[in-house]
Amino acid sequence: MSTATSTISVERVKQSRISSVDFKKLEFGHHLADHMFVADYDKGVWNDARIVPFGDITVSPAVLSLHYGQSVFEGMKAFRTASGEINIFRPQKHLARLNQSLDRMCMPPVPEELFMTALESLVDVDADWVPNAEDGTLYIRPLVFATEARLGVKVSDQYRLIIMTSPVGPYQAKPYRLKVENRFVRTAEGGTGSAKCAGNYGGAFYPTQIARQEGFDQILWTDHKEHKYIDGVGMMNVMFVLGGKLVTPKLSSAILEGVTRDSILTLARDMNIMPVEERRISIDEVKDGFLKGTLTEAFGTGTAAVVAPIAVIHIDGEDYEIPEAGPTSLQLQVKEKLNNMRLGLEPDPYGWNHIVKKS
Ligand SMILES: Cc1ncc(COP(=O)(O)O)c(C=O)c1O
Repeated sequence: MSTATSTISVERVKQSRISSVDFKKLEFGHHLADHMFVADYDKGVWNDARIVPFGDITVSPAVLSLHYGQSVFEGMKAFRTASGEINIFRPQKHLARLNQSLDRMCMPPVPEELFMTALESLVDVDADWVPNAEDGTLYIRPLVFATEARLGVKVSDQYRLIIMTSPVGPYQAKPYRLKVENRFVRTAEGGTGSAKCAGNYGGAFYPTQIARQEGFDQILWTDHKEHKYIDGVGMMNVMFVLGGKLVTPKLSSAILEGVTRDSILTLARDMNIMPVEERRISIDEVKDGFLKGTLTEAFGTGTAAVVAPIAVIHIDGEDYEIPEAGPTSLQLQVKEKLNNMRLGLEPDPYGWNHIVKKS
């Protein structure tokens, strides 16, 4: 895959919107930074790479993405380190997943050089939008969607890549009360669950809305055949401390391979906190763990939250409660380690930090 444009043109805003943002009260995704990166794909080439003021775009109502769902995205973060540098966390891993998602949706890959240059240039142009460590992080949302305007059902020949960013505050949701889903599925094996494509999210709204009406915060997704084995929680991967081991569902075509999942499993193994297992986990096993007192932690993992504690799992008509995670819990140990590494307070032996050079 090639790019016709080796340089990125930059059109800066006339007036920044940053003074209207209260960095002490950042709601997730509410404020978008001043600029966005845009590139267009046609005839096998990504063209016209540009940074422009963030704003509305015009597309034909016939663009194929709106009708047939060729739309794929990513979610990653940039951190302000203790020494004031900007650190984009594991961008190559996010690009690898973006390209896997694109492949699953018959969409063209984004070349590494284009992606990395785009990210670095955009974050550099909007450097003032990266919050200080105590206030939060800069969420980065790359999006690729089909732009060919044509009504017939077909794979698009044209696409647009947009990267937008948004300053977000620290994650503060209360521990989840979960409903085990035994009617709907997020995706099925062989479906698109391992791709970060738009349809997976739209399809999850309805079951999630029902769960909320029933008094739950999120869904514990189970397999599509028997609703017996656990896939994930809400829009996150899920982990349990069960019988003194960290266990998480092994990856399948129904599960998105979380970058946070990978970071946490790597840290838990290398910190030697406890054995780690990636395998099938049944609802019965979780229930048994509650009854025997061997299930000591349960949490979701994802870029937005790092770890999101689970307080209650509702199984077969009963609420099973999980004790609050203390400072020696696995989830808080790995969370602290990960945060310290990203803020440059501890060494990063994995090369996960990508420090943005100032222009
Ligand atoms: C369905 C789903 N699973 C898992 C994750 C966690 O992935 P990550 O840790 O890369 O944010 C996400 C969030 O992107 C998600 O949408």
